[in-house]
Amino acid sequence: MDKKVTVIGAGNVGATAAQRLAEKELCDVVLVDIVEGVPQGKSLDLAQAAPIEKHDARLLGTNSYEATEGSDIVIITAGIPRKPGMSRDDLLSTNAGIVKKVTLEVAARSPEAILIVVSNPLDAMCHVAYEASKFPKQRVMGMAGVLDSARFRAFISMELNVSVENTHAFVLGGHGDTMVPLPRFSTVAGIPLPELLPPEKIEALVQRTRNGGAEIVGLLKTGSAYYAPASAAVEMAEAILKDKKKILPCAAYLEGEYGIRDLFIGVPVKLGRGGIEQVIEIRLTAEESAALKKSAAAVQELKNALAKLSY
Ligand code: APR
Repeated sequence: MDKKVTVIGAGNVGATAAQRLAEKELCDVVLVDIVEGVPQGKSLDLAQAAPIEKHDARLLGTNSYEATEGSDIVIITAGIPRKPGMSRDDLLSTNAGIVKKVTLEVAARSPEAILIVVSNPLDAMCHVAYEASKFPKQRVMGMAGVLDSARFRAFISMELNVSVENTHAFVLGGHGDTMVPLPRFSTVAGIPLPELLPPEKIEALVQRTRNGGAEIVGLLKTGSAYYAPASAAVEMAEAILKDKKKILPCAAYLEGEYGIRDLFIGVPVKLGRGGIEQVIEIRLTAEESAALKKSAAAVQELKNALAKLSY
């Protein structure tokens, strides 16, 4: 393939993203992890599925960074989940340390790459990658809104018994409890959701979307969601690799848009070869705007906590 995507972290999200990238024949894939054998084994397994899945993407698993050189995109999924006895700040500083280290490694070898951050806490990890890479803001983004919107769309389609392809949804804000699903801009075959469902039903879908990640953690018991997160990261990568100019909600570094400054937060952006080619500013109601500001305040709190930690 003439494009190369590096996926850092060969765990559930990383390996599934590698699979989807290869099976869509978007690019060659380099899978990196610190655990010896895992990226090599998973890449080999995926390569052995290639004749059946009918793709010619090359897959390489490694514990070092040489093979990542010249990547067009780097998807960062490395990190550890929260363990018993670990505070949020412990997780924040551990994952910040991991994301910083891997970003320095990839940025040195792929100075023109676009970074898609998936590791949690997402909005804070975007800051770490932005600062460590020193890349322009257009080339550092976080995957959250695409996943949250896909969850909202899945729930809308289940509720109304319509094709997921007929659904469209918008979720803004940080990737957490304060995310801001926007029913007004969510549609089924172009019909706004408020015309199709009563407010209490919409509120229930919104709540389920907010709780989407936790619902899956509760069911899986060990580990968190990975099929949909991987799909979401790959949709972003595809939009960039194919220069699609696709408008998707992503965590972007804002400098005044939506009245928010120096913060990564989920907003609609246009994705193309240059990464974030435009931040789309939609006019929000006072209520929607207040919800976005509240979400920004929660992200700011996390950013402040990050500033106090050494990692
Ligand atoms: N360099 C490379 N890989 C690393 C490093 C590092 N310094 N530290 C940890 N990893 C790897 C782990 O070895 C593991 O294989 O990151 C991988 C993480 O995989 P999982 O634990 O399976 O986690 P996953 O479900 O894939 O989630 C990854 O995405 O959605 C977010 O919250 C989620 O932050 C988490 C991330």
